[in-house]
Amino acid sequence: MSSQFGTIYRIATFGESHCKAVGVVIDGCPPGIPLVESDIQAQLDRRRPGQSALTTDRKEQDSVTILSGTENGITLGSPIGLMVNNRDQRPGDYQAMSDIPRPSHADYTYMAKYGIKAASGGGRSSARETIGTVASGAVADKILRQRYGIEIVAWVSAVGNYQAGAVDPEIITREMVDGNDIRCPDEQVIDDMRELVSSLKEAGDSTGGVVSCVARGVPPGIGEPVYEKLEAKLAQAMLAIPATKGFEIGSGFAGATMRGSAHNDPFAHKNGRMGTLTNNSGGIQGGIANGEPILFRVAFKPPATIAHPQQTVTYQGDEVVLEARGRHDPCVVPRAVPIVESMAALVIIDMIMRQEARRALSPLPSQS
Ligand SMILES: Cc1cc2nc3c(=O)[nH]c(=O)nc-3n(C[C@H](O)[C@H](O)[C@H](O)COP(=O)(O)O)c2cc1C
Repeated sequence: MSSQFGTIYRIATFGESHCKAVGVVIDGCPPGIPLVESDIQAQLDRRRPGQSALTTDRKEQDSVTILSGTENGITLGSPIGLMVNNRDQRPGDYQAMSDIPRPSHADYTYMAKYGIKAASGGGRSSARETIGTVASGAVADKILRQRYGIEIVAWVSAVGNYQAGAVDPEIITREMVDGNDIRCPDEQVIDDMRELVSSLKEAGDSTGGVVSCVARGVPPGIGEPVYEKLEAKLAQAMLAIPATKGFEIGSGFAGATMRGSAHNDPFAHKNGRMGTLTNNSGGIQGGIANGEPILFRVAFKPPATIAHPQQTVTYQGDEVVLEARGRHDPCVVPRAVPIVESMAALVIIDMIMRQEARRALSPLPSQS
């Protein structure tokens, strides 16, 4: 589906890279929640282009307007419309490329699917679409934090071959992550990462990277096995973000090389509840949260639009060398951090509301 995500807390996003505005309608947001634009703007500011020399030079303020669903700063339970105007479009940058699908971008596949595509900026495949997920995720994030004490924090754990050292998922905060423009909490590698991204921007090339994420305080019991296991929903949500190429939960692919005796997470009583001493499961077992921090990683590819000359063909099959124009991110992971957090918030709030609905009619004790 091109626009919708979620079952009880449901979102429908709209917009393309160079249309008038992008945004989202949230249906199913509980009434009575204090909500003003500044609650949403903080995450949009962390996502917006042009926020540092390491991102695209497209200049957008990305100021959000709440169109509906609140009165006097309180949600009404009716659909919440959120909108951000597109301002700094330069469709002319794309004219020379109109006949040439950018290698590894979505130009060819959108054309193959729809027989028509937005003339510039990647249309619906552009990361501008993630404004809707970040805005609606910021609302979910606020409710999760205030109502359940859930904290979701993502950070850059790799840029190219530079890997961050171990980060303590129990204590990492968004303030720590935002301590530098790469959004990597390991001071040892920040300069190397920054130099790599700057030099590739200068050279008209790009690099991939990894975003890690923790969700702390998710109550045990959340998740809808079999087909909507919590990790399956998180994987779907993360792989819906443009430029993602991989998802790992807990030990991830490293778990495939381990013995059960080393991989198993022994149970223990912690703070008056069942817990585990290690967390190779990444906080999820059988598709259901076990109360430990939920830990996952998302791999992002190098952005496709590069000025570096590339041998390719036009839609008609003529050989050409493409030196792409336009303003582009040399590495998306610093801007992807709030997108990953927001998608995680959308998954978790929907799963919690589904579990609450089940509890409302069952003898299970209330979760909070
Ligand atoms: C925050 C963010 C910024 C992005 N910026 C660019 C960009 O400047 N140039 C580009 O070619 N791709 C960029 N992308 C990735 C493309 O949107 C994406 O690669 C493209 O739509 C093809 O989809 P796919 O990579 O998921 O197959 C960005 C992705 C994210 C998450």
